[in-house]
Amino acid sequence: MNAPSTPRTLDDLPHPRGLPFFGNALAMQPRHFHLQIEQWAQTQGRLFTLKLGPTRWLAVNDAALSQQVLRDRPDGFRRVSNLEPIAQELGLNGLFSAEGDRWREQRRIWMATLNATQLRRFHDQLAEITGRLLARWQRAADRGEAVDVAHDLMRYTVDVTMRFALGYESDTLERDDDVIQRHLDKIFPAVNERLTALFPYWRYIKLPRDRALDRALAALQVEVNTLVAKARERLRDQPGLREAPTCFLEALLAAQEKGGTGISDETVSANVLTALLAGEDTTANSLAWTIHHCCERPDVYAAMQAEAQAFLGDAAIPRADRFPHLLPHTDAAINETLRLKPVAPFFFLEALRDTVLDGLQIPAGTRLMLLLRTAVGSAPSSVPTPRFDPKPDDPDKAEAGPGRAPTMPFGYGPRMCPGRNLALAEMRSVALMLARHFDLEAVPQAQPVSEVISFTLVPHNLRVRLHRRDKVT
Ligand code: HEM
Repeated sequence: MNAPSTPRTLDDLPHPRGLPFFGNALAMQPRHFHLQIEQWAQTQGRLFTLKLGPTRWLAVNDAALSQQVLRDRPDGFRRVSNLEPIAQELGLNGLFSAEGDRWREQRRIWMATLNATQLRRFHDQLAEITGRLLARWQRAADRGEAVDVAHDLMRYTVDVTMRFALGYESDTLERDDDVIQRHLDKIFPAVNERLTALFPYWRYIKLPRDRALDRALAALQVEVNTLVAKARERLRDQPGLREAPTCFLEALLAAQEKGGTGISDETVSANVLTALLAGEDTTANSLAWTIHHCCERPDVYAAMQAEAQAFLGDAAIPRADRFPHLLPHTDAAINETLRLKPVAPFFFLEALRDTVLDGLQIPAGTRLMLLLRTAVGSAPSSVPTPRFDPKPDDPDKAEAGPGRAPTMPFGYGPRMCPGRNLALAEMRSVALMLARHFDLEAVPQAQPVSEVISFTLVPHNLRVRLHRRDKVT
């Protein structure tokens, strides 16, 4: 694309009309602010500005420009600078919020242990945990209950992350009183509130919700300490694990023991919490949205059921090591869900140095919001319409095919999600298991299913009744 010869400045860009002092902030509802911004994007174009209180934001609604920004990390752009202190206060300053050399060091360890080779060793455990979810859902089906699928899926993803990343066998799927699950649920909404607050009041006064958050964090810390102590025991009993760690936590502790890495006990603990948080809501909500789409599109689900039956035969549980390269209908449902309901419909970043983007001058310190959903669709509505094409496609492939713009559900560039392979294995396992064993019935609620932003994009009001396909009547 040709950049204009005289660079434009932020002042030259269009912007929705706002109010003095508040700017555009009052036009947005906290739980649905993404919808308002996506609506503005339809009228303001590829690049526009917004004012949230005193801060001006550059909104980028163009996939190629967003990729240019995302590639230029960590040196050219960072995540917004209020994230790191907020994460630090909460004891969560791990890979997601770290910047610069701290990020580089942690990223190396994450990538070495959350890769496809490690994942191949994990198929037995993944199948076993998927079996527990099947049993939970069979019990719910036998009771005729309407299932809060997102809630159950969070138990599934916590069990998977604890086993795969932290080397610990939890069983939140079986235990309804689980401490970790209960307390984790409080963290994302709190981080979200603090990130979007116009003033950091909690540094001066604690409201009841801040005290509840402190209690949740303290309870989680006890659990984290247990996970770390168990991993240290394993390293002590099996010294070979230092060279060949079986999970991310062992690798992190081995690096800490070696010294010279700057990995403190606090960093270890923050990354354990980061793994739990980053692995829980993201995958669980993506799966819940997939189930929502399956309810909305019985034709798509029927094709998935036929595919699951053909693939699994008499086997009850899919095994990740036997997945073919492509499961056309299952993958189409997953990929289309990730395109339409990306857990992060926006990325919030900040320029670290003066730069020029598509002929636009961006001074250091400029705050950017990258719109990742409307940028990928050419539909006239604010959100692209579903296209469940059962043809080979990569959910986050960088190049657009004919009629397909690039999507970035797992981000892009050097900070792309390190949990992608694990998340896709979980999503395929659950989608196949569901389609093999259950028919779906959406249970109407007082309000229809809607999108709520709670750090990630959450399906609100989603209840599903599961009917067993294997039940002898
Ligand atoms: C469907 C599931 C998931 C989705 C859609 C997803 C999406 C994302 C996105 C959009 C980012 C930001 C990437 C960027 O800045 O370019 C990210 C980062 C991250 N994700 Fe995921 N994620 C998922 C599952 C997981 C899982 C299972 C884990 C780990 C157990 C994980 C760990 C992380 C971490 C640690 C980061 C920060 C990476 C960094 O800043 O270097 N995610 N994820």
